Amino acid sequence: MPIDLAVVPVAGRGTRLLPLTKSQPKEMLPLGRKPVVQYVVEELAHCGIERLLFITGPGKTAIENHFDIDGELISHLRETGKEELLADLDFEREQVEYFYTRQRRQLGLGHAVQCAQPFVGDQPFVLALGDSVIGPSAKSDVVRRMVQCFEEQNADAVIAFEEVPEADVVQYGIAKPRSAAGEIFDLADLVEKPSVDEAPSNLAVAARYVCGPRVFEYLAKTKPGKGGEIQLTDALRQLIHEGGRVLGARLQDGECRHDIGNFQSYFRALLDHLLNDPELGGELRSQFSRER
Ligand code: UTP
Repeated sequence: MPIDLAVVPVAGRGTRLLPLTKSQPKEMLPLGRKPVVQYVVEELAHCGIERLLFITGPGKTAIENHFDIDGELISHLRETGKEELLADLDFEREQVEYFYTRQRRQLGLGHAVQCAQPFVGDQPFVLALGDSVIGPSAKSDVVRRMVQCFEEQNADAVIAFEEVPEADVVQYGIAKPRSAAGEIFDLADLVEKPSVDEAPSNLAVAARYVCGPRVFEYLAKTKPGKGGEIQLTDALRQLIHEGGRVLGARLQDGECRHDIGNFQSYFRALLDHLLNDPELGGELRSQFSRER
């Protein structure tokens, strides 16, 4: 059966974005006209995902509300002659079924993924971080390519990677490919936040994964690290070290990842979306360049 299920963890506290995230989920922060998580869902739907399980946590109900079909709002727009705005709610009718479960304690991304296990069973699934957008405009089909490669190559997991400037490797999980890294490559290891000198490549983990059932087996064996958190990367590394087939898939030219987890990357993502807004972007760009 083709993979039609995505797990989207959105339970993290987003402390690096305080005070913005004190009473709203970071996944609901705006990138131009849409909240971050709407881009994630649109991208997954575009890649053939039909069932979507959010791993939520405290203070995240705005995400559930956002994907509900809001009959009252629709009637209000009709009754007040604002039918033209109905198109802005088209995403509510995406051909996706939504499911929600809660991570009752925020014990890291690995633990959030474990919360999906009773729902997922032993089926393979896509894992997409809810705070990271693959641009432009949710049109990337990297997830579709990853699913295809997972199925064709009988892999245990496939991880998306983005080429980053050398100086930035210190912020990411970095790939150690087995040989020269083409579009799809075998992973020999993953190195968490290496120094520039020690980095085995400049390919950084890019927030999208396809996971088979062995990932749960390795998560169950992973010991909590800093702050009691269970790290997904630790489980994937162990899987590789014990002979699991883990592949990397590169983002292609024109595909870029925006992770909004800290102010630097959030501001960059926000500016990119504002300056490329189809209606107001051109005006904003010329206004900025005049003022400089
Ligand atoms: P981050 O590593 O950015 O952690 O999560 P965080 O807790 O959200 O943010 P900070 O570090 O406090 O600023 C990466 C992804 O994993 C999810 C987040 O929601 C985000 O999509 N996550 C993280 C969980 O679902 N549960 C967790 O316990 C931690």
